[in-house]
Amino acid sequence: MSVIEKKPIKITETVLRDAHQSLIATRMTTEQMLPIIEKMDKVGYHAVECWGGATFDASLRFLKEDPWERLRKLRDGFKNTKLQMLFRGQNILGYNHYADDVVEYFVQKSIANGIDIIRIFDCLNDIRNLETAVRAANKEKGHAQVALSYTLGDAYTLDYWKDMAKKIEEMGANSLCIKDMAGLLTPYDAQELVTALKETVAIPIDMHTHYTSGVASMTYLKAVEAGCDIIDTAISPFALGTSQPATEVMAETFRGTPYDPGFDQNLLAEIADYFRLLREEDLEKGLLNPKVLGVNIKTLMYQVPGGMLSNLVSQLKEMGQEDKYYEVLEEVPRVRKDFGEPPLVTPSSQIVGTQAVLNVVSGERYKMVTKESKKLLSGEFGQTVKPFNPEVQKKCIGDKEPITCRPADLLEPQLPRLEKEMSQYKQHEEDVLSYALFPQVALEYFRYREAQQTRVDQSVADMEHKVYPV
Ligand code: CO
Repeated sequence: MSVIEKKPIKITETVLRDAHQSLIATRMTTEQMLPIIEKMDKVGYHAVECWGGATFDASLRFLKEDPWERLRKLRDGFKNTKLQMLFRGQNILGYNHYADDVVEYFVQKSIANGIDIIRIFDCLNDIRNLETAVRAANKEKGHAQVALSYTLGDAYTLDYWKDMAKKIEEMGANSLCIKDMAGLLTPYDAQELVTALKETVAIPIDMHTHYTSGVASMTYLKAVEAGCDIIDTAISPFALGTSQPATEVMAETFRGTPYDPGFDQNLLAEIADYFRLLREEDLEKGLLNPKVLGVNIKTLMYQVPGGMLSNLVSQLKEMGQEDKYYEVLEEVPRVRKDFGEPPLVTPSSQIVGTQAVLNVVSGERYKMVTKESKKLLSGEFGQTVKPFNPEVQKKCIGDKEPITCRPADLLEPQLPRLEKEMSQYKQHEEDVLSYALFPQVALEYFRYREAQQTRVDQSVADMEHKVYPV
């Protein structure tokens, strides 16, 4: 009789990062998170993804919260669970390339404030853009998980992914992630990919996908059977649609099998009850649009991530050109091809998407070209897997000589200048990093913070005056 070896699947919960980024435009506040983390800490998650990605920008810009403060509070609450963040390689959590000193300092401070696992990716899969962040995470004794930004296209063969995975392992990554941000991976393709990668690398493999096209939970099933070590899920009220498959469903699927994660469904139900109330509030406020909750099979046709679809809609709305939506969707793959067929993930998704909108609404392709498109075509985001369309490149950047080196090699250290520029607002060491990524937004936040503090000081003074009238 054969004995089946137990291999419990590890589960990373995304409700505090990707799930609310995908469903409610990253608007979950720290106050909404804190009451439930004691329970979440008891589940036995491999990790909770709770920081990075768009949460940093959204906290500062829309919620008027210090993202570093959020991280410290989450760290205090999660005594037994690893905390994970999403990190855009040389773009950190912003949309541009930063110098190595900023990348290194950001990694150092993320780990010092409580992050255990840093998931690092590059929007072009240019591994030179991952090196500094991986080295910094290794140095700070953090876990460097490096992601393949999964996409489809002629260049993206099994050999391509295997070759990239091998380089990632050699670079010093502690685990590998298949990051399928658009939900393109179908179950049998996932099985094939995981099997091939398992033969190629020894480090654990984490599968990350989105439910957008409706196949994601089946994709996880086949991936796990093929040897995938970790899957990313969201507690049910914030699962499905453009988010991840539901945690309870995956835990139940594997119950009693060698992959059983051993989660307590009663505990998961209590956590779900908490988030269900938030979901109802978000539906009432219009923050959660029922449109993002359904199955959108078009995502497989247009290969566009869910977040990018809603961006395109809002860009067209602003211009009063909503009727051009399908024309734009068809222009996206053409622009992508002209731009060397990159994966569509922040920031390449925004660059390609905005350019597609301009190509359609201006009535002539590349008549209007964004600064970011020019940068991309000048090699300033790194190397794409395929060459740029030379005619388009010429039309957009003229005779400018594109760069071929790692873009950050051309950047002088930036921290000394940044420190000087924002010194009058500085209250924490981390403030300079917030400023480095989002100068305008950070300054507004710093001023808001000062105003709040003055108000508090004033009301304390007023109270004292009332208690001890002169
Ligand atoms: Co995601």
